[in-house]
Amino acid sequence: MKKIIVSVNNMSVRFGDFYAVRNVSFDVGTGEIFGFLGANGAGKTTTIRVLCGLLPASSGRVFINGTEFVRGRENVIKSQVGYMSQRFTLYNDLSVGENFDFAAALHRLDNDVYLNQRKKLLDFIEFNRDLRIVVKDLPGGIKQEIALCVALLHDPKIVFLDEPTAGVAPAARVRFWQLIKKLAKSGKTIFVTTHYMDEAENCNRIALMRAGELIAIDSPNELKRKTFGDSLYRLRPRHKNARPPNMNVVDIWQPYGANYHLRFQDDVYVAPHLRSLKKDWEIVQISPSLEDVFIRLVEGQNR
Ligand SMILES: Nc1ncnc2c1ncn2[C@@H]1O[C@H](COP(=O)(O)OP(=O)(O)O)[C@@H](O)[C@H]1O
Ligand SMILES: [Mg+2]
Repeated sequence: MKKIIVSVNNMSVRFGDFYAVRNVSFDVGTGEIFGFLGANGAGKTTTIRVLCGLLPASSGRVFINGTEFVRGRENVIKSQVGYMSQRFTLYNDLSVGENFDFAAALHRLDNDVYLNQRKKLLDFIEFNRDLRIVVKDLPGGIKQEIALCVALLHDPKIVFLDEPTAGVAPAARVRFWQLIKKLAKSGKTIFVTTHYMDEAENCNRIALMRAGELIAIDSPNELKRKTFGDSLYRLRPRHKNARPPNMNVVDIWQPYGANYHLRFQDDVYVAPHLRSLKKDWEIVQISPSLEDVFIRLVEGQNR
């Protein structure tokens, strides 16, 4: 890994007796696009709030760019991180310009530095509207791009994006991810959560959270390989009464529309099993998607 910019060691966050995050450890390298995935309530936002200096961890140690988090030193951290929160991003009733002004004041930026940086960022997203436009009049995708710029205004080394594309139209999501990739290329570190698995494919590494615990961390390809090996199949029924496989030998039998994804428990008898299914099903071997990995590791906890 390149130089480590975020280091989390045995971090827990408790609310009363409830562990929102339990004993989590991971590192993030400079320039990485680091995806943080998990179902609702998994502890993603809580982790991000700690890493942005907004919430103290209950235990464990956290370092940002070599500086350890210590209560009272949050401001040192805050200057190094940008944060685009899940719920609140911009003031809807203020103009785009006013939102920038507000962020500049918050970070106490010098006026020249501020205007320079704002121009750079607006060029970066190719914003060509009037800055007096009120935020609520912007399309959702553009609003999120402005929010990204506001989060980057003080030129932080790392930016935390909490579900930045939730509810954004597909074409705008694609555009947003192009911006994320450009930012990473320019040396920024991106820490991002999303529920869209097609987006998660763009991450260099992914951390999977489940009920406050970190259950896997790897590149998308390694996650797929470690979870499934080569042994995932897609079955399309040849007729209405296609008989499902013998569940005693099945590890995964997951409907995808009219098709199923299948994996056997054991690699040894795969060929005869497949042969007996061919009468009823068209079978192709497939590469697992992150969706498969997610279902398997995050949602499939009672398997
Ligand atoms: N301030 C809080 N007080 C009590 N419980 C909280 C608080 N913030 C979050 N939680 C709980 O912690 C868990 C993790 O929440 P969160 O980090 O928001 O999950 P995610 O972002 O992965 O959906 C949830 O069960 C949530 O209800
Ligand atoms: Mg959240």
